[in-house]
Amino acid sequence: MQIHNLSDHPSILNTFISQIRDITIQKDSMRFRRNIERIGEILGYELSKALNYNSQNISTPLGVSETELHSNAIVLCSILRAGVPLHNGLLNYFDGAENAFISAYRHHKHNPESFEIVVEYLACPNLEGKTLILADPMLATGQSMVATFEALKPFGVPKEIHIVSVIGAQKGVDYVAGHFNKNSHLWIAAIDKTLNDKGYIIPGLGDAGDLAFGNKLQQ
Ligand code: URA
Repeated sequence: MQIHNLSDHPSILNTFISQIRDITIQKDSMRFRRNIERIGEILGYELSKALNYNSQNISTPLGVSETELHSNAIVLCSILRAGVPLHNGLLNYFDGAENAFISAYRHHKHNPESFEIVVEYLACPNLEGKTLILADPMLATGQSMVATFEALKPFGVPKEIHIVSVIGAQKGVDYVAGHFNKNSHLWIAAIDKTLNDKGYIIPGLGDAGDLAFGNKLQQ
C-alpha cells in the first residue's frame, strides 16, 4: 500500500486538523462537520493526481481547449455514521461518483476494552473494474476498514482502491497496509502515535461520530 500522509508537508490542511482536534472549537458541531468536509476536499484533490487522464477537447464560446480529464468510474463508499461529512467533502469534487454506504460498528461483547466489528447495513453498486474510494475519518485499529473491504467483495473486483482518512493511529495504518495490496493507496491527513485501551486515537480528537452528530444513547 502506498501511504500519503499529507502532514509530511505543512499546509492549510493543518489549520483544519487543529480545529477539529481543539476541545473548544470542536464544540461547534457545524464547524466540526464542515472542517471534516474541507479535509475531504483536500484529500480528494490529492487523490485525484493518482487517477487516469485522457485528453479531451472542450468547446468554449471562442475556441477549443484541450484538457486532461480523469476517466475513472469512481465509487465512493463511506462507513456510517462518522464518514458522512468526509463523504460529502469527497463528493463535492467527485460529483459524478456512484455511492455506497456501510454501517460497521464496534460491538463490545464482554468489556469496554474488547470489541468485534459488526457490519449490518450495506448499499453498494457494482464495483467490477471501478475505482473504489473507502472513506473513514478515524483509522484507529483499522478493523472497520478491513471488515468493510471484506463485506464489499461480493460486489465485484475494483480496478484500484484508495482509502481516505482524516486521523489514523500508526497501529491502524500498519494493520490496513497489511490487508490491502501494494497498488492500493492511503490518503491521510495526520497519523498519531497511539491508541488507548478503548481503541481511541491519542491525542486524536475524541469520538468523530459524536462530535459531528451528537452523543449516542448509552445502553
Ligand atoms: N473513532 C473515533 O471517532 N475516534 C477515535 O479515536 C477512534 C475511532
